[in-house]
Amino acid sequence: PAAVIVAIDGPAGTGKSSTSKAVAAKLGLGYLDTGAQYRAITWWMLNNGIDVNDAIAVADAAAKPVIVSGTDPAAPTITVDGLDAAGPIRTQEVTAAVSAVSAVPEVRTLITDLQRSIAAEAPLGIVVEGRDIGITVLPDADLKVFLTASPEARAARRSGELKGKEAGDLAATREALIKRDAADSGRKTSPLAKADDAVEVDTTELTLEQVIECVVTLIEGAG
Ligand code: C5P
Repeated sequence: PAAVIVAIDGPAGTGKSSTSKAVAAKLGLGYLDTGAQYRAITWWMLNNGIDVNDAIAVADAAAKPVIVSGTDPAAPTITVDGLDAAGPIRTQEVTAAVSAVSAVPEVRTLITDLQRSIAAEAPLGIVVEGRDIGITVLPDADLKVFLTASPEARAARRSGELKGKEAGDLAATREALIKRDAADSGRKTSPLAKADDAVEVDTTELTLEQVIECVVTLIEGAG
């Protein structure tokens, strides 16, 4: 059978990663976290003294780091120039800087090409999660899902994921998340948006298991 391509988009804290990983594992598909790639390039910029608010400097450096994503949903990996980036890309420092870096068109072109080649190489297909997958990266996906949830539910989920001193208080997490979504939705190039042919799933009142079931059912129906 032909490879099945699934695009899962939505703002932060809607359960995209947990849902996408579980769905991919259940169906034997690959899994790609595109946010991790934007975080990885941002981490490299910070490590190399690039001012992330200087779009020209970011554009000039964008092709330098070599980003490699492993697509096994049971153990996704990401490296930058051979270094394991999985831990460092989740810090508040990277989270606060990523929207500025991901808004730079040269960064998006490079990362989009990388994402398309990874998706094309997945033997049975792949679940790709992000912000612009259904509209820009994989417009011909077999299924497009757009996950939403109330700001309160998203902030609660996100602070549950943060560990120890990174956790802070719920109000601060909520503010940071709303600010990042506004930046991601308001940028000129490939803003966060629902594709016309995407199925919107509001996860506010759903458990993770229910969201997974819902997406698996949609994929089976789309086949
Ligand atoms: O999904 P995650 O919260 O890890 O994404 C981190 C950031 O990467 C987002 O806030 C956004 O700026 C950027 N991103 C993007 N396009 C994608 C995925 C993520 O611009 N497809």
